[in-house]
Amino acid sequence: MADFNSIVILTGAGISAESGIDTFRDHGGLWEKHSIEDVATPQGFARDPDLVLGFYDARCAALANVEPNAAHIALAKLEREFADSLLLVTQNVDDLHERGGSINVCHMHGQLKSALCTSCETRSAWDAPLSSRPPCPVCQAPTLRPDVVWFGEAPYQMRRIEEAIMECDLFVSIGTSGAVYPAAGFVQQAKRLGARTLELNLEPSEGTPIFHEARHGPATQVVPQWVDELLAG
Ligand code: OAD
Repeated sequence: MADFNSIVILTGAGISAESGIDTFRDHGGLWEKHSIEDVATPQGFARDPDLVLGFYDARCAALANVEPNAAHIALAKLEREFADSLLLVTQNVDDLHERGGSINVCHMHGQLKSALCTSCETRSAWDAPLSSRPPCPVCQAPTLRPDVVWFGEAPYQMRRIEEAIMECDLFVSIGTSGAVYPAAGFVQQAKRLGARTLELNLEPSEGTPIFHEARHGPATQVVPQWVDELLAG
């Protein structure tokens, strides 16, 4: 097996693109069709909750029509080999890593299949529309919102991620444009602390020059290929 003791993998929308989930910033991506201010900020939610709940209900319902792809499945295989010495961090709110077999997934931007109560702050596994204002399973208040991190809010599990970055000797970024912080800064942190850094993306991103190595192509090809190499290495 490869000569790495501890690996951090960061994934973004590109890993789920070939499963049929829109990315954000590519041509035809989600942020071309919807305004970030309207559907991905606390202010947008306060202004028009129906619009925001409808947007996330539709994204959540769409998960029923997609399947994990070869890239998700390859990362699950890697997790089985590396166990506790691999942290899979995703910016994605879909559930394709889990459905591809990954067990320990750190969803730093939250999850579509989770609801957050704005009254009691409980996060509950959730797989039904929120637009109908169902009661919170804990406090019964009809105040559930999508458990998705919006712009201006703090991502989840940052402490755990930063600790893993401090310890890792390999940092791999997959299918992300590197446009959104803090995730976009992980590569610099890892590199500064001595880790080898690798980008796997469809095409060069703005951050490509920062990485020690970059491989470009569709995730369903480059990710399984890299995993096989690493496991054979
Ligand atoms: P982006 O849409 O910004 O970037 C997607 C990246 O995936 C781009 O670099 C594409 O080149 C690449 N890509 C597209 N198809 C691919 C494929 N088949 N194989 C490999 N790569 C492919 O999405 P993210 O970087 O994930 O946050 O966006 C980061 C955050 O911005 C999201 O989590 C979301 C968004 O606003 C919040 O909503 C808080």
